[in-house]
Amino acid sequence: MEKILVTGACGQLGSELTADLQSIYGTDNVIATDIVEPPEALSDGPFERLDVMDRPALAGAAERHGITTIYHLAALLSAKAEQQIGKAWDLNMQGLLNVLELARDGRFTKVFWPSSIAVFGPDARKEQTPQNSPCNPTTVYGISKLAGEQWCSYYHRRFGVDVRSLRYPGLIGYKSLPGGGTTDYAVDIFYKALAGERFSCFLESQSRLPMMYMEDAVKATIDLMRADPASISVRTSYNLAAISFTPEELAFEIQKHLPEFEISYEPDYRQQIAESWPDSIDDTAAREDWEWSPVYDLEKMVGDMLKNLEKELKQGIP
Ligand code: SER
Repeated sequence: MEKILVTGACGQLGSELTADLQSIYGTDNVIATDIVEPPEALSDGPFERLDVMDRPALAGAAERHGITTIYHLAALLSAKAEQQIGKAWDLNMQGLLNVLELARDGRFTKVFWPSSIAVFGPDARKEQTPQNSPCNPTTVYGISKLAGEQWCSYYHRRFGVDVRSLRYPGLIGYKSLPGGGTTDYAVDIFYKALAGERFSCFLESQSRLPMMYMEDAVKATIDLMRADPASISVRTSYNLAAISFTPEELAFEIQKHLPEFEISYEPDYRQQIAESWPDSIDDTAAREDWEWSPVYDLEKMVGDMLKNLEKELKQGIP
């Protein structure tokens, strides 16, 4: 029986992944942890305040709950990391090293850790960026994710730690808000559209970025973690892809449902970050190794997002 601990459980991915893990493995078998108070959505299951920088506290929680598997999601995202470079490096690196060291000691038998399309920099091919590309990231977040990937691979090779990872594109979901990412506009835009307000986009109209609907991201994560270890050929982090669009294309798709919706463009420092990232991703390795295949394209994602976010907003969440 798997007993799971999730760090960063109150974040955009954490809150949705935790709920799905609870429905698969049983509510009591998934311990949600974070440094902040849990949102309503996480109030049904076990929750602990936990700082991943505190290795003894992490070890204590693993011991107390008999944890087998950790989903270590706590991190600072790309835009926020540019404002707090020291904190981002400390949290993104030391947090991961604490988890890997505890896994090496046998406290966790399986580790999931998220990487990102931010590992690529301007030297990687923009279209269908291959799994093995030159990675020269120009952001602190990208540097920390690239170093983290190498640590994962090192702990697997040297100590046999079963650590698995995905290079997520921008994630879009209606149950929780992202915080401090360059792809956040693709979530914010839906809130403005449903409020009947004009949306001011912090990226240029033609900034194409790889994106994914949250349902697909959660499915990919769980599929990877359930895959036979013998089928996992990538121990740094898998490229993962679903949709790729520009702010203009997203706005156009939203206008099919809400014809009055208007968008304007006021690019800020995040434009530079976006320009250093790929337009689209080649995820052949994930498709071949553990049969990854996304369900949502742009049209399906926008329809589902508008329908569900409207419902959530009527109920006063999030
Ligand atoms: N969505 C993330 C960000 O924008 C990319 O990993 O920071």
